[in-house]
Amino acid sequence: MSSLSVLFSPATDYAVKVEDLSITYRTTFERKPTLRSALKRFGRGERAIKEVQAIKNVSFDVRNGTSMGIIGANGAGKSTLMRAMAGILPPTTGSIEVWGRASTLLALGVGFNNALSGRENIILGGLASGLSRKEVEARADLIADWTELGDFIDMPMRTYSSGMSARVGFSVAVHMEPDILMIDEALSTGDAHFREKANAKMAELRDSARAMFLVSHGLGSIKEMCNEAMWLDKGTLMMRGEPEEVVEAYMEFLKVKRSATTTEDI
Ligand SMILES: Nc1ncnc2c1ncn2[C@@H]1O[C@H](COP(=O)(O)OP(=O)(O)OP(=O)(O)O)[C@@H](O)[C@H]1O
Ligand SMILES: [Mg+2]
Repeated sequence: MSSLSVLFSPATDYAVKVEDLSITYRTTFERKPTLRSALKRFGRGERAIKEVQAIKNVSFDVRNGTSMGIIGANGAGKSTLMRAMAGILPPTTGSIEVWGRASTLLALGVGFNNALSGRENIILGGLASGLSRKEVEARADLIADWTELGDFIDMPMRTYSSGMSARVGFSVAVHMEPDILMIDEALSTGDAHFREKANAKMAELRDSARAMFLVSHGLGSIKEMCNEAMWLDKGTLMMRGEPEEVVEAYMEFLKVKRSATTTEDI
């Protein structure tokens, strides 16, 4: 049994409730054991299925007013969890309840059409987020100006650097006035000026949005921006609590793992 419900009743203090959530990706691919046999049997590889359990029996709830930092190693399941909460990815088992509208521009840059300009993508992004044409038109200039991309805003996005694309994605996400703001690695490609501007904007939104989720490898940002944190490892929720404590436990875990591999190496 699995479900995702988006609820609009204000009669609760919860923003998100996740119960016993598991998400499994199934990918079919052609198994090619060696290069030589791959060449020999070109195009006739054996079909195989790989299953990745990206989220394993995770439960938590988040109340209004929370800015939740999510940390963990590459492949831990952070983006998967965010996609599921945003309704992009259905749960395999378990349930997710979300009260209100979430901003869905997660992995920034994904979802953009690179043949279109930044400005055109802003309009599409706004419509995709559920705003009316009128609302989008009223906001498009503000969103475009916020990126500080100058003339580039009317150039095709394929001509953008990754940081420039991130600026467009971030600007769209934060100007949608979501009930729940979800930001996945928005800050990783930004330069110092953009980071500062993004931090200020997030601080402002933290107070107006009902809840915020921030995925980042920047542990300093997590401590600075969030009032709670969760640590995921290989799909399992390892810890939830004060950002300081969770970050410290995660760093301790990394240290132990590093010394274990060093010992193995010797
Ligand atoms: N579309 C997909 N199809 C198949 N497997 C996927 C897909 N997306 C992610 N995965 C797998 O799910 C697991 C969790 O990936 P996820 O992207 O959620 O990690 P993450 O914590 O966001 O990592 P990162 O810090 O690198 O962004 C990984 O093992 C990854 O290989
Ligand atoms: Mg990710």
